[in-house]
Amino acid sequence: MTVERASALHANDSRATTPQGYFPAKSRQGWPGSTIFPCATLLLLGLLVATPATAFPPATNYATQCQGCHRANGEATGDIVPRINGVVGAILDRPGGREYLVRVPGVAQSQLDDRELTELLNWLVGRFGGDAASSSAPFEIAEVAGFRRNPLIELTAARVRLFATAAPPGDAAAALRAPH
Ligand code: HEC
Repeated sequence: MTVERASALHANDSRATTPQGYFPAKSRQGWPGSTIFPCATLLLLGLLVATPATAFPPATNYATQCQGCHRANGEATGDIVPRINGVVGAILDRPGGREYLVRVPGVAQSQLDDRELTELLNWLVGRFGGDAASSSAPFEIAEVAGFRRNPLIELTAARVRLFATAAPPGDAAAALRAPH
């Protein structure tokens, strides 16, 4: 086929000149599926994007958001990551402790939304709370949402201030004195 012949064919090809591209106009009008299919696909994609990760329980969110640093059992890693196992309740019991727990960078800046983070924190109190945890009220979503918008910048100073207040009794006090 010569070049002239090919371009002549192309010029007569209605598909090439259809504004909608290569779908012949006839099939666009005749088959309602051509409209429904893209709509359904968009809807499905929308659902996938909009579906929050809340489908995961707090234990799974801990595993993906926290465990890399805090280990499955909340133990310390050297002098870098403090132990949280048995410590969370003692922090909660101190003045400013609730706020501190939410504003710690790893918590405040996690990928979880406010509801997921609230569920995770309440789970964390049960899991790693220790003796002191029983006296604390559960976290509310609005409370967590408010605190986390203001992550701790001067973390060491905030921690020193928090832990300088009267130590809670028992094991929790020892846990709080553990090296940071
Ligand atoms: C990238 C590592 C990392 C991740 C991820 C992380 N943390 Fe932390 N976390 C730390 C470090 C390091 C500290 C010590 C304070 C600091 O330097 O930020 C800390 C401090 C804490 C504290 C305060 C302990 C104390 O004694 O002051 C709590 C509670 C805590 N993290 C919980 C969590 C939870 C819950 C998550 C998941 C939502 C999480 N962290 C994610 C590294 C991490």
